Amino acid sequence: MQPFHFPHTKCSRKLIFFALVMLISLASPTSSCTKKEKGSLLQFLSGLSSDGGLATSWKQNGADCCEWEGVTCGEDGAVTDVSLDLKGLEGRITPSLGNLAGLLRLNLSHNSLSGGLPLELVSSGSIIVLDVSFNRLSADVQELPSSTPSRPLQVLNISSNLFTGRFPSSTTWEVMDNLVVLNASNNSFTGQIPDNFCSISSLLAVVELCYNQFTGIIPPGLGNCSMLRVLKAGHNNLRGTLPNELFDASLLEYLSLPDNVLDGELDGAQIMKLSNLVTLDLGRNGFSGKIPDSI
Ligand SMILES: *[C@@H]1O[C@H](CO)[C@@H](O)[C@H](O)[C@H]1NC(C)=O
Ligand SMILES: *[C@@H]1O[C@H](CO)[C@@H](O)[C@H](O)[C@H]1NC(C)=O
Ligand SMILES: *[C@@H]1O[C@H](CO)[C@@H](O)[C@H](O)[C@H]1NC(C)=O
Ligand SMILES: *[C@@H]1O[C@H](CO)[C@@H](O)[C@H](O)[C@H]1NC(C)=O
Ligand SMILES: *[C@@H]1O[C@H](CO)[C@@H](O)[C@H](O)[C@H]1NC(C)=O
Repeated sequence: MQPFHFPHTKCSRKLIFFALVMLISLASPTSSCTKKEKGSLLQFLSGLSSDGGLATSWKQNGADCCEWEGVTCGEDGAVTDVSLDLKGLEGRITPSLGNLAGLLRLNLSHNSLSGGLPLELVSSGSIIVLDVSFNRLSADVQELPSSTPSRPLQVLNISSNLFTGRFPSSTTWEVMDNLVVLNASNNSFTGQIPDNFCSISSLLAVVELCYNQFTGIIPPGLGNCSMLRVLKAGHNNLRGTLPNELFDASLLEYLSLPDNVLDGELDGAQIMKLSNLVTLDLGRNGFSGKIPDSI
């Protein structure tokens, strides 16, 4: 076979030059970030005590924050994604990220961030995925005021931090009516599991609360979680019997409550209502009686 050669004519050189110009203009962004968005990101940076080289990297990438490491913009130049997981970040999360009006996804997981989780992020009017898992965030998670309009947040992962105090209840979960996944496992939350996680129209599908210090009963209100597929609340201090209402959550596939102080007898007729159940872990509790045949 003949190797392909460009004929070295003037005309084809012009063509190649033209094609290069086209390529370069296609690769460059259609719009750049606004001064305000850039300011919010720089403010976040200034709240860090150790940035893992992020400031240097951002400086090298120039003035347009849409080009910065871990930052993605939409077509209109608004920041849509901030992915700064595994960057060795230390220090506090400033509320300034809540000023990014088009921010959809924020991933700060696997860093060493400390301090509180700003309410501005949880109650953001744009964020749908918030992952701050595997950090050293502490302090109480604040309650959202009842005047808050419905929030778009769908995924909240605050697991593996040092959160303490009572878990938010009442108004917080009422305004979080788009929430699909909640992972608060591996913290030190105390108090009861909220009874009002789910309104009638709730979309909540995954609730993980294991490895905390929750006390009290398994709330009957969980029966209102009609989309619930996964409930994990093992390794807490939950007591009492399994409420009959729980078996109304008929989509449950994964029910895991080991290492609590639950008791009573298992009702075979109730468990049979969970026809989608694949995993059931009730180990290391105080249940009595027989394991129902219907299982
Ligand atoms: C955030 O980043 C971590 C990797 O550090 C990844 O495992 C996780 O899935 C990401 N979170 C989301 C919500 O995509
Ligand atoms: C946090 O939870 C979300 C939803 O389950 C998940 O997509 C993400 O991978 C989790 N983050 C980590 C670091 O595992
Ligand atoms: C919830 O968090 C724990 C620990 O941080 C993790 O092992 C688990 O995979 C997470 N679950 C989901 C659904 O993201
Ligand atoms: C709990 O969190 C700690 C600290 O982030 C982490 O080292 C550990 O692996 C986590 N445990 C589980 C079960 O996810
Ligand atoms: C389920 O929701 C309805 C309507 O909001 C409420 O009246 C009822 O008490 C709830 N059920 C439980 C078990 O909390």
